[in-house]
Amino acid sequence: MIYRSKLLTSGFVAFALLYSTQTYSHGSATGIVKERMDIMVTVGDTLKMLSGMAKGSIPFNAKRAAQATRQISDDLGKYPTMFTKHSGAAPSEAAPEIWTDTAGFKELAKKLEAASLSASKTLAASSDQSEIKAILIELGNTCKACHKKYRQSLS
Ligand code: HEC
Repeated sequence: MIYRSKLLTSGFVAFALLYSTQTYSHGSATGIVKERMDIMVTVGDTLKMLSGMAKGSIPFNAKRAAQATRQISDDLGKYPTMFTKHSGAAPSEAAPEIWTDTAGFKELAKKLEAASLSASKTLAASSDQSEIKAILIELGNTCKACHKKYRQSLS
């Protein structure tokens, strides 16, 4: 039990850190840049919802959790194609590495795509929130890995 609660805590800490670096510069974006930002906002909302379900502040709902993670998987399939030429200027936080190391970027998108698809299947078959903490850690690691290299803060 002690181990489990430690694992849970470290997942939430990582999750909080992820959000503390967020800059909300999204407002003035248009077109494909806005579309790809909207995807990431939805991804972020889904992780917040899962986190709420894990903590018990949001009632566990297998269908909602499975649908939202399935949506991440569907969106991440097209996500790397939305970084068209010269679309990296502010307010985008896209780092130049997206265009100079596209293979690495695509690989991380694939990783989140696969992890969220498998999470969706697990959640659809779950009767309670017990699987969520491991899912949050796995998905959360992909966020961190990609943002570290491919997202730059504008501040
Ligand atoms: C394949 C790389 C990649 C992965 C994986 C990834 N992100 Fe992102 N994320 C980005 C990039 C690049 C941006 C900046 C995009 C832009 O400005 O066009 C971003 C931006 C964001 C934003 C800011 C959106 C806005 O504009 O307001 C949030 C929130 C976010 N990501 C959450 C997450 C979460 C949560 C995860 C993990 C479940 C995640 N991301 C996984 C690449 C990724």
